[in-house]
Amino acid sequence: MDVQSAYTAWAATYDSMENPTRDLDGVATREMLGERRYGEILELGCGTGKNTVYLAEIGERVQALDFTEAMMARAREKVSAANVTFAAADITQAWPCADGAFDLVVTNLVLEHIEDLGHIFAEAARCLKPGGWLFISELHPFRQYGGLQANFEFGEETVTIPAFVHAISDFLDAGREHGFALLRLAEWWHQPDRNKAPLVVSFLFEK
Ligand SMILES: C[S@@+](CC[C@H](N)C(=O)[O-])C[C@H]1O[C@@H](n2cnc3c(N)ncnc32)[C@H](O)[C@@H]1O
Repeated sequence: MDVQSAYTAWAATYDSMENPTRDLDGVATREMLGERRYGEILELGCGTGKNTVYLAEIGERVQALDFTEAMMARAREKVSAANVTFAAADITQAWPCADGAFDLVVTNLVLEHIEDLGHIFAEAARCLKPGGWLFISELHPFRQYGGLQANFEFGEETVTIPAFVHAISDFLDAGREHGFALLRLAEWWHQPDRNKAPLVVSFLFEK
C-alpha cells in the first residue's frame, strides 16, 4: 500500500488503537511549544487532528494541511475551533502558502514518509517570517534502525507504511543548509523504557 492509501485505511482506527508513539509525540509537542502564544501556525500532515486541537489553543490561526482526505475528515469532526482551516495538499510539492506568512510551522510523525528533507526545510524557510520557528517531532531513528516503522492492523493484515530513515544529523544538516538555527533537540521515552533507545525525537529550529 502507498502512504496515502495506507492512511485512508488507517483513518477509522488511528485515534482508538494503542499507539505509544502517537501518544508520546502529543506530550512532547505540548512540552516543547507550551510556554508561548503564537500568531499564524502552519501544520503539515495534521492527520486526525491530535495536535491541531492544541495548536488552535496556542495560535491566532492554524492552517492545517494533509494529503489524506479520510484522516482530515476525522480532524474536521474533532476540531470545531473557528481559527482552524483545513486544506488538502501534498507537502512534497510547493506548499499552498504565501512567502513569510507564518510564525510557526509544525509537523509531527510525517517526515518518515518524506524522502527529501531538503524540500521541507526549503519550503518552511520560504513560508516562515524572519525569526519564525519550525517544530519537528518524529519517530526516533534509533527505533527505525531496530526495525520499527508506522504500521497498523487492517482486517487480518498488518500494514507497514513506506518510510525513509532520516538520521539526527540529516535534520541538523538540512536545518543549517536552509538558514535555521537549532534552539532545542529533545528525546522522549515512556518512563518504563527510560533505559532503552528513545522513541520520539523533537527539534525546534529558528529561521
Ligand atoms: C502518522 S500520521 C500523523 C498525523 C498527526 N500529525 C499526528 O501526529 O497524529 C501521518 C500523516 O501524514 C500525512 N502525510 C504523509 N505524507 C504526506 C504528504 N506527502 N503530504 C501531506 N500529508 C502527508 C498522512 O496523510 C497522515 O495523515
